[in-house]
Amino acid sequence: MSGTTAVSGQVGRGAGPPASSVGSRLLSVGTALPDGVLTNADFEEMMATSDDWIRSRTGIGERRVGGTTTSLAIEAAAVALDRSGIDRELIDLVIVATQTPDDLCPSTAAGVQHGLGLTCGAFDLNAACAGFSYGLVVAHSMLGSSMRAAIVVGVDRMTAATNYEDRTTAILFGDGAGAVVMTAESTGGRGVQAWDTGTDGGHSDILRSPIKDGRVTGVEMNGKVLFKHMVRYACTSACRAVEQAGLCFDDVTAVLAHQANQRILDAVADRLKVDRGKFVSVIEHTGNTSAGSVPLALDAAVEDGRVRSGDAILLLGFGGGLSWASTVAIWQ
Ligand code: UT7
Repeated sequence: MSGTTAVSGQVGRGAGPPASSVGSRLLSVGTALPDGVLTNADFEEMMATSDDWIRSRTGIGERRVGGTTTSLAIEAAAVALDRSGIDRELIDLVIVATQTPDDLCPSTAAGVQHGLGLTCGAFDLNAACAGFSYGLVVAHSMLGSSMRAAIVVGVDRMTAATNYEDRTTAILFGDGAGAVVMTAESTGGRGVQAWDTGTDGGHSDILRSPIKDGRVTGVEMNGKVLFKHMVRYACTSACRAVEQAGLCFDDVTAVLAHQANQRILDAVADRLKVDRGKFVSVIEHTGNTSAGSVPLALDAAVEDGRVRSGDAILLLGFGGGLSWASTVAIWQ
């Protein structure tokens, strides 16, 4: 690890390649989206908004709604496991990143472990929309210290935590899940090359999903302020991870970034002077699926051939906390 320098009084971060020579490899991705569709036209019926406002301010056209957090997570993980081709006996760990578990106990990961018929350890983590990206870093570290293979799931049922009285936030969120299978990798040529994580707890009030009297009451957010912080932190983290990997942005084939807002993706690309086309976007048809969004973008890019075996990719999550995490990896 290259250190945990405090960048400012409020910000803590970690960055680096693995401490040991053993690393991790990303083998496969799978996703799950529920059947229900909530379009901008549906919102026009529900509140004072318009398709034009939503599309121009966010890039969102529709979101998927339904399922449970556990069912979506199992479905995505099963697809990833199937595509990996590895023996499920090798899976030593399931990590599920979510901020919308069906229950606080048991963990969603326990449901995934059981649902897939695995016998390994399993736990949840919550870093809001950066959760999947944090999960990659945690799995990478654990695979570097003797575990053989891991499944990392990012899943959220944001529509269950949305306040449909608040038009500024209600139009943003959808449900969905994505998962990757990772294996221990000793050659170093493939897999995770570098990572960066950071948190700015001093700005946690900008984006909250508070629990009041035992109930989640909906997302509360200062969107404009959050937008600026997220662009800044996403750029800084992306630069650190790419530099740490010994690469430049020209070497990166695709950026799989959190799908919060198309304007954020464009702003980050412009600030990094990276072609906007490298930032894979699925937001038009998914909305903001929080921890599900980065693997949903990865799956889309693999499916349409934008990401192929041997390509360098940047996975970039950011959101509530404020939290962010970047991983640079050679795909498969
Ligand atoms: O996933 C975690 C990370 N998430 C983010 O980083 C989200 C970052 N923020 C954003 O994406 C944007 O701030 C939003 C999409 C949430 C909002 O866009 P904005 O351009 O910042 O709009 P605003 O909240 O400043 O509102 C502008 C205007 C206001 O009207 P006035 O005061 O100018 O008359 C709002 O009342 O737009 C109005 N407005 C709407 N109008 C139609 C707010 N929501 C809506 C709506 N339909 N749904």
